Amino acid sequence: MRFPPAFLDEIRDRVPISAVIGTRVSWDRKKTNASKGDFWGCCPFHGEKTPSFHCEDRKGRYHCFGCSVSGDHFKFLTELDGLSFPEAVERIADMAGVPMPARDVAEERRERERASLTDVMEMATGFFQERLQSADGAKARAYLRDRGLTPATQQSFRLGYAPDSRNALKEFLASKGVEKTQIEACGLVVFGTDVPVSYDRFRDRIMFPIPDSRGRIIAFGGRAMSPEVSAKYLNSPETELFHKGNVLYNFARARKAVARGGPNGAGTVIAVEGYMDVIALAQAGFENVVAPLGTALTENQMELLWRMAGEPVLCFDGDGAGLKAAWRAADLVLPAVQPGRTARFALLPEGKDPDDLVKAEGPDAFRAVLSEARPLADLLWMRETSGGVFDTPERRAELEKTLRELTGRIQDESVRFHYNQEMRERVQSFFGAQRNGGRQGQNGRGQGFGDKRQGGGQRGGQWGGQWARGGAAHRSPITESLGRSALVKRAGEAMSVREASILVALVNHPALIDENFEYVEFLDLANSDLRKLHAVLLDALAHDMAGDRAAVVEAIDRAGCRDIWERAVALMHRARQWPALEGAAIEDARDAFAQALHLHRSARTLHRELKQAEAALASDPTDENYRHLVEVQAQFRDVQATEALIEGFGVSSGRTGRS
Ligand code: UTP
Ligand code: MN
Repeated sequence: MRFPPAFLDEIRDRVPISAVIGTRVSWDRKKTNASKGDFWGCCPFHGEKTPSFHCEDRKGRYHCFGCSVSGDHFKFLTELDGLSFPEAVERIADMAGVPMPARDVAEERRERERASLTDVMEMATGFFQERLQSADGAKARAYLRDRGLTPATQQSFRLGYAPDSRNALKEFLASKGVEKTQIEACGLVVFGTDVPVSYDRFRDRIMFPIPDSRGRIIAFGGRAMSPEVSAKYLNSPETELFHKGNVLYNFARARKAVARGGPNGAGTVIAVEGYMDVIALAQAGFENVVAPLGTALTENQMELLWRMAGEPVLCFDGDGAGLKAAWRAADLVLPAVQPGRTARFALLPEGKDPDDLVKAEGPDAFRAVLSEARPLADLLWMRETSGGVFDTPERRAELEKTLRELTGRIQDESVRFHYNQEMRERVQSFFGAQRNGGRQGQNGRGQGFGDKRQGGGQRGGQWGGQWARGGAAHRSPITESLGRSALVKRAGEAMSVREASILVALVNHPALIDENFEYVEFLDLANSDLRKLHAVLLDALAHDMAGDRAAVVEAIDRAGCRDIWERAVALMHRARQWPALEGAAIEDARDAFAQALHLHRSARTLHRELKQAEAALASDPTDENYRHLVEVQAQFRDVQATEALIEGFGVSSGRTGRS
């Protein structure tokens, strides 16, 4: 049965975790500080002689610094004593003196329904696998062969093929007695009030089944074989079974590999970007690899990684966009770091993903990338110093302030303390070296070297180089403040990801037009090309044909804007804004659109205010007008910072993104 979360919290709060664990572990007198609820002992999960197993009553969690197991009251009992979850709950409730809650019949029914949905997903997986081996699957088999995947690898990841048919899967499932509503609930067909007859979502695609943490299939990723198809990967929509932000591809297998250890498992887990990367790496002997599902890592996915290893390695493309993604991940990880719980960051050679790399250069090349992985502290330091100019005391003070703000986000007190100390030392040795005419030389220009222990650029050669390039795209607070007015001017020219994604999404997902009508009419666009597209769209709307994607694209063509449209779509690809593209699930498109529109409105409003404030100050240079300008500038910067954190949005135009 399912337990109400409030009930679980209540019994967990009433029973100190040390009381649960204390029945199985004897505490080390020297290290333990019982009055603070801080306990140490020898780990009951792996044999050891010196105590590296820690539990803290305040947090209600345990962690072993030797073997990385961690968990709460229930996990301790299920993992060590082999109790089922309900049994563990009963035991703690008993210790807490709290009666068990009554059974929730409705919830149990939902549980059963979920179970039947996984059965349907299992049938679909079998169907796709079988189709891959059939005559229809010849092209798909050839594709997989060309990509270097052995039949054994294909088997073990249960790859399949969705035939080029609007109802092959639907009919297969119906013939097995699966109900229409179940097929719909699994996200296997496209249906809805505007779809007269539901049809198979995945057509003519290589199918990657996505298992949950217990290996049950809960979703699919489908890859188009032809480069002409606009959505390269199509993923299952969110369903009762599948919440993509909570799932990592290959989690179950990777967890086993990590637990097994072995030459490449070596106690850590690696996160890469794509399904194909995971599979190619597994074939090359790296089985401890997972990937998110087409989005940036989420907090929940970080938690999953930490369940496997204290220091997962996050791997990113070696281009501007990959760097942005790394920074974004660093910001996600930072507040949550704890003793023994952080991440390392690895950057691939530019233009190669792990799949390309192992194929071209073999497993050693990937091993080398992993061995270059940098700790979080390095990454943050490099981000804040690269490309910045620190030639005055004010600017150095500003750097210090930025670093303090960053480390201030760390929730764990002791880690925060050590970060502060580390950053102070880095600042000191950085400027010390500069003043002595040290390695980096002139005028305090940071070049993103940053690691004093590794002697600057020598060992981290690859990083240093890539970093410097990234540094140019990234604006440190200081360079930003210098270039702020230029930045505002430039916003009038380049096609921004934000604006392009709004228009591309509106054309590809006409439902969004109706849903956001009042805004769509008066989009205040900075880019003149996109303003032309907008005009075409409004015209189509006036002629009542904006609901027909093909007709709108044709109208764009007729208006002589095809080139603009293609550039906007290409920008979506480059910035990984899949939700805006044709074929993305409407739920994804809707979320991404709302976010882009919200940012757009804030940015444009502030942009206008900024201009007014500048004009006011120019004509009437009072203190008050000055203060107002500074305030608006700060808000404008905040919006831009938020924008830079959104995956892909940092790539402001094709020219700056990858250069
Ligand atoms: P990539 O474009 O890097 O693809 O997208 P890839 O993994 O290298 O795949 P191949 O080698 O071209 O086959 C990385 C991930 O982003 C998601 C998928 O999860 C993919 O694995 N993605 C990509 C989408 O969800 N939709 C897309 O249209 C493209
Ligand atoms: Mn690839």
